[in-house]
Amino acid sequence: HAPVVVAIDGPSGSGKSTVSRAVAARLGLSFLDTGAMYRAMTWWMLANDVDVDDTDAVAIACAKPVIVSGTDADGPTITVDGQDVAVPIRGPEVTAKVSAVAAVPQVRTRLVELQRGCAEVAQRGIVAEGRDMGTVVFPGATAKVFLTASEAARAERRAAELRAKGVDEATIAAMAADLVRRDAADSSRATAPLSQAADAVLVDTSDLTLEQVVDTIVELVERRS
Ligand code: C5P
Repeated sequence: HAPVVVAIDGPSGSGKSTVSRAVAARLGLSFLDTGAMYRAMTWWMLANDVDVDDTDAVAIACAKPVIVSGTDADGPTITVDGQDVAVPIRGPEVTAKVSAVAAVPQVRTRLVELQRGCAEVAQRGIVAEGRDMGTVVFPGATAKVFLTASEAARAERRAAELRAKGVDEATIAAMAADLVRRDAADSSRATAPLSQAADAVLVDTSDLTLEQVVDTIVELVERRS
């Protein structure tokens, strides 16, 4: 039968990335971080002096970069024109601008095509995480999950992640403010806004451990496939 597609959406800090990777590893599926692709596109725009606030310029330029996502759950990779950008795409410059770039319809059309391509070549199936996996990219997914968490829990998780990477407290505070702004932008944009698909299962992760969330999703996928 058709390969398994697990669509996981939610705001930043909902635990999406960690949860999605763990689910993929447990089920032996590929893993796709679509946020990394929007970040890679944004990184390329900034590196090539494209004015990311100029929608027309972004719409034209977005055809150029070659973005490749490695979908191994044990070590996902992301390159732009052959260059490994895993580190710079997490920086504050890209984070500040990614929502603007991701709101441009031509950017989305291009990356959605790449995302579907990744699912097609995944041997056993794929866990894809982002903002519009269940609503737009994989409407026929085997299982759809919408992850949420309280704003406090999300801010605290993001801060802990950054602290673990040695990021200083001033930057952490700035990124917390950015997270609120980014979620508002992602939820209110015209094209493919962050929203729960009608047939997605809502999981609030505020008071659950990683294992509890992963178990819930693995059970759901096993029931549906
Ligand atoms: O998941 P992450 O926080 O890395 O995503 C970065 C940004 O990419 C989001 O804030 C959003 O603007 C955009 N994005 C998107 N659609 C997706 C995944 C991410 O618009 N499927």
